[in-house]
Amino acid sequence: MSEPEGPQGERGAARAGRPALAPAVLSEKRTERASWEEIEAARDDPKQANILYHDWEAGSYDEKWSISYDERCVTYARERFELVAGTEGRPYGRALEIGSGTGFFLLNLMQAGVAKTGVVTDISPGMVEVALRNAAGLGLDVEGRVADAETIPYPDASVDLVVGHAVLHHLPDVEQAMREVLRVLKPGGRFVFAGEPTRYGDVIARRLSRLTWWAATRATRLPGLGSWRRPRQELDESSRAAALEWVVDLHTFAPAALRRVAIAAGAVDVEVRTEELTAAWFGWPVRTFEAAVPPGKLGWNWATFAYRGWSRLSALDRRLTRVVPAGLFYNALVTGVRPPD
Ligand SMILES: C[S@@+](CC[C@H](N)C(=O)[O-])C[C@H]1O[C@@H](n2cnc3c(N)ncnc32)[C@H](O)[C@@H]1O
Repeated sequence: MSEPEGPQGERGAARAGRPALAPAVLSEKRTERASWEEIEAARDDPKQANILYHDWEAGSYDEKWSISYDERCVTYARERFELVAGTEGRPYGRALEIGSGTGFFLLNLMQAGVAKTGVVTDISPGMVEVALRNAAGLGLDVEGRVADAETIPYPDASVDLVVGHAVLHHLPDVEQAMREVLRVLKPGGRFVFAGEPTRYGDVIARRLSRLTWWAATRATRLPGLGSWRRPRQELDESSRAAALEWVVDLHTFAPAALRRVAIAAGAVDVEVRTEELTAAWFGWPVRTFEAAVPPGKLGWNWATFAYRGWSRLSALDRRLTRVVPAGLFYNALVTGVRPPD
């Protein structure tokens, strides 16, 4: 969540590098932390940076992002899905997720009854391993495979639904990934992507996060606040993670541009929605503050405050959608259908 200080141009430079990924890289799981040298080497290779960053994060990802597989996140995932795709056509038979991470979106959608069986895929072997472990723990019928979303290793017309959450903005070639999504979908099958940062929403969220990180890391250096300070080594690891974040976050989306990409890839019935305005202004500083202090320091009362605050502001934001331009909200969602034969 923290950002290294640096010119905005670094993100543009990261977008330029799109080397193909060697198969050997796809099959190996990384467990140790990335060094500054490896981060430097991955600077022009966003796919390699994604593997480094997300393998590194896999073991602690659910905790870091407060991901759970209970009512709270089942409802969150189902509501995101319904916001853009409604309830028609459910339950879907076989659903595939790209960039599944630990399985947050698909596993919770399956628990909500959206799909019967699932396939989790991710470019990070560490993430696929955790997603499969989570699925087994929940007793869900799920298989998994390490896969680049731009070359999905499943046959044409083999799934009924494709989903993704917070993944499109990491892909060098979003239109190519959309084409792959449409290829693996059966005719008439649907895709749903949620949690993508909008162009203006992201600018505000990053500024708020940077300010919070700056204030929190300086405040905890004050005398008497030593127990709120994270050890130097952990802060250094956070800085290295932030440097990688700078490389892996490739895009933000204007709602109209996201629609155009889906249509250019061949989708029909495309719908784009946005959500979270004040909830994002609250949520990003909260998350950044949590990352700046020692894990577990904030406790249950803080977690309740954070969740209730976010929920109330989300309700306010739903009313604001009638008067505030869509592009100012933080999250974009897109759905579409593979044309029937
Ligand atoms: C921000 S995380 C989101 C994870 C999960 N969907 C969630 O919402 O918790 C993005 C995920 O996309 C994966 N990813 C990045 N580039 C990818 C690619 N080219 N193909 C497939 N997955 C990719 C990352 O490894 C990571 O697990």
